[in-house]
Parts: sequence; C-alpha cells; structure tokens
Amino acid sequence: MPKNELPPGPKGTLIGGSLAEFNTNRLDFFLRLAREYGDLASFRLGPHRMFFPSHPDLIEQVLVTDAKHYVKHFGARVYKPVLGNGLVTSEGDFWLRQRRLSQPAFLKNRVLTYAPVMSNLTCAMLARWRPGQRVDIGYEFNGVTSAIALKTLFGLDDVGDREEFVNSLRNTFDLLSLRFRDLIPIPLWVPTPRNIRTRRAIAHLRRVVDGFIAAGRARKEPGDDLLSRLVSARDEDGSRMTDQQLRDEAMTLYLAGHETTALTLTWSWYLLATHPDAEAKLVEEWSRVLGGRSPTPDDLHKLPYTDAVIAEAMRVYPPVYLIGREATCDLELGGYRVKKGTTIFMSQWVSHRDPRYFADPEKFYPERWLDGLAKRIPKYAYYPFGGGPRVCIGNTFALMEAAILLATVGQRYKFTIDPDTVLAFNPQITLMPTNGIPATLAMR
Ligand code: HEM
Repeated sequence: MPKNELPPGPKGTLIGGSLAEFNTNRLDFFLRLAREYGDLASFRLGPHRMFFPSHPDLIEQVLVTDAKHYVKHFGARVYKPVLGNGLVTSEGDFWLRQRRLSQPAFLKNRVLTYAPVMSNLTCAMLARWRPGQRVDIGYEFNGVTSAIALKTLFGLDDVGDREEFVNSLRNTFDLLSLRFRDLIPIPLWVPTPRNIRTRRAIAHLRRVVDGFIAAGRARKEPGDDLLSRLVSARDEDGSRMTDQQLRDEAMTLYLAGHETTALTLTWSWYLLATHPDAEAKLVEEWSRVLGGRSPTPDDLHKLPYTDAVIAEAMRVYPPVYLIGREATCDLELGGYRVKKGTTIFMSQWVSHRDPRYFADPEKFYPERWLDGLAKRIPKYAYYPFGGGPRVCIGNTFALMEAAILLATVGQRYKFTIDPDTVLAFNPQITLMPTNGIPATLAMR
C-alpha cells in the first residue's frame, strides 16, 4: 500500500511555501532538495504540492512506465498563448496525430540532408567575423541556429529584420516567464499593463509566423522543409491542418528547435575556453579527421571527442534543466501516493550532478564519456532530451547541428572570455546565461 503522507521536504512559508526560493535560487533549491531529503522529496509552491524525484528509476517511472497517466505540468500551459496546440504543449490523440505527421521529417536519413545548410550558414556567420572583434557568444549562436531552423524547417532564407524578430521572441518569452513565477497568473484578457505588453508581443510573433506559412503555401513546388510537409499532410479522412494548427506547430518547432541548440553551443564554448586541455584535444581531432573542412555526414561518426564534449557540456549545463508533469489520476511513486493533480518536477541539473553516477560531478571532463559510461549508468541518470513518448523529436537534428557548428567554428576561430565575466544563470524554460558570455575572437 502506498503511504498517504507526503515525501520529506522543506515546510517553507505559510502562504508561498518554497515559492521565494524557487523563483530566486531555483538551481540551488533543487540541488538542496535532493541532498537533504533524498531520492523523492516534496515541497509546496503556493497552494500547489510538488513531488521531486531524483533517482533514475523514479524518473523513468514518470516519463516512461506511467507516461499515459501524466500530462505536461502547469508551467507548460503558461506558454500556450504562443505555442498553442503544438507538439510541446498538446496532449492525447491530438498530440499523437501531430507527432506522427511530424516524425518523418526528423528521421536520421532526412536530418542528414540538412548538413550542408548547417555548414553553409555557419560559414556565412564566420565570413562576417573579424579577429579582435568582441562578441556575445550566446547572441551569435542564437542568430545562426535561428537561421538554420528557418531554412530547414520552413525553407526560408531570410526573415527580413532578424534582430527585431529575435528580440520580439525574447521579449514575449520573458513576459510569459513572469507569469510562470506568479502565484496565480491574472488571465491574459485582463488589461493590466503587463498583459497588454504580452498580448502585443504575441500578436507581433503571430504576424511573423503567418508570413512563413503564407510563403510556404505560395511556393509552387512543395519544398523539402517540414512546413511544406505539414502544409500538404493529409489525415486519414483527407482533412488538412488549419492555419491555426500550422501556426502552432511552426512556432513550436522554431522555438524548441533553435534556442536549445544555441545554448548547447554557447555552454560548450564557455567550457572549452575555460578548459584549454579539452580544447587542444578537440582541435587535434578536427585537424586529423577534417583538416580544415566542415564535417559532412560521413565524418560525424569519426569525431568521438567532439561528441564527448557536447555530451559533457549538456551534462554540466543542460539546456533543458527541468521537466514537469501532472498526474491525471491517483498513482504511486517510490512508495508514496501521488494524488491526482500533483505536479512532478524532474531536474537534469540535479540528476546530471549525482555523484553516484558521475565522479567529481562539477568537473567538466569529456573523457568520462569515452569508455562506455552511457551504457554503465541507468538510462535516466542522464536525459538532456527527456524520455518516453514525449522525448525530444529533434535530438538527432540537434546533435548533428552541434557537432557541425562546433567543428566549423572551432577550426577557424577561438574565443577568449572577458576576464571580468562573472557566470550567472537565468533558469527559465531553458538554462541561459544571465548577462550573455562576452568574448573576443582570435584566429585559430
Ligand atoms: C540540444 C538541443 C535540444 C535539447 C536539449 C532539447 C531538449 C528537449 C527536452 C528535454 C524535451 C522534452 C520535454 C518534456 O518532456 O517535457 C524536448 C521536447 C521537444 N523538442 Fe527538443 N531539445 C533540443 C533540440 C530540439 C530541436 C532541434 C527540435 C526541433 C527541430 C526540438 C523539438 C522538440 C519538440 C517538438 C519537443 C516536444 C516533443 C513532444 O512532446 O512530442 N528540440 N526537447
């Protein structure tokens, strides 16, 4: 019989529970929960009771074994005004249909065909760079992964004023993230100053994405991109996706598909610039295997150290550091009763630092992946792409993109991080650096 009481955890304050710590010091808060209360902890955010499993078997139970009894948690719903009923935020039969329609575009053979676009757009970025130039690493990689997403997903070469578009996206997400922190978010239709700004930002984004869809529909020949597939995709009964569905899916794939990969590259370069031994080994691998070229799909399996660097960067600084689910019925987890409506949080930031599976976990040490570690540890000790039926649809795409960009950039340039940079994290949906990563470019 599962226990009816709650797993151990902090009491917090009378009204907010642990809300203040969750909002101001989220990464440390989750680490402390696992260290002080063990493999299954609980805490309260305002009226909501949360479970926090940090043992791989419990995480597997939520993400895989009991997946059909969970939906995405309330935080995911906060982003619905932008992501609508796209793959990330939809549920049930609707989600399954969209996932099946989208899946073929993400199979390995198709993803490999995107490799030339990835290296060409990276070379276009390098052509704009100059030795001695000061850059924000995060900004640069966001720009190039955004261009790659627009081309491979929507067949678009240019979005016109990219800067305005990227800023508008950021602005919308910053505003929506504030709602995630509210105890009880005020409905968006209530005309508070913040709601008015949020609604304007969303309307702006919708206009941009409607432009993508119109361009996709206007093309005479359906392109090789995902949007073209979705535009022409027909259900078994012959019906097509409505403009609203297309917009939701386009927005979802664009957003899910570029910022996470940009962060993987940003954190990789930060870690390499501060770990010259690892960087030297990487440069040696590239010079031996590639000799100055961008990697082609045939090269990718010959770059084990590159793969290890990417895996280790996603371990130390996971771009998605938190996944949430909500129980749709009464369940059991780790011997405790999970009441219907309970939220379960799982954190890659915490799991990836578990000393039971990663020796010296704070250390950036790519070599740990070279002798079969991935096979020795439990599957859900390391899960940068989540798992189960809702596992990231773009994981092959992302890993290939990261390897191509790392090698293409790293054979031409190196980054020197500004010495007065103080690393600070801004954990929203993804794990961003608070003040960017300012650096100076030098030729390799
Ligand atoms: C390093 C880069 C990436 C990371 C770390 C990452 C991480 C994740 C994680 C952890 C999830 C599961 C979230 C959950 O279970 O609640 C997810 C889902 C998803 N990702 Fe990624 N992702 C990356 C790149 C991409 C790319 C390149 C695309 C598309 C081009 C993409 C599209 C999606 C979509 C559509 C989902 C929702 C899948 C579903 O629920 O059916 N991601 N991602």
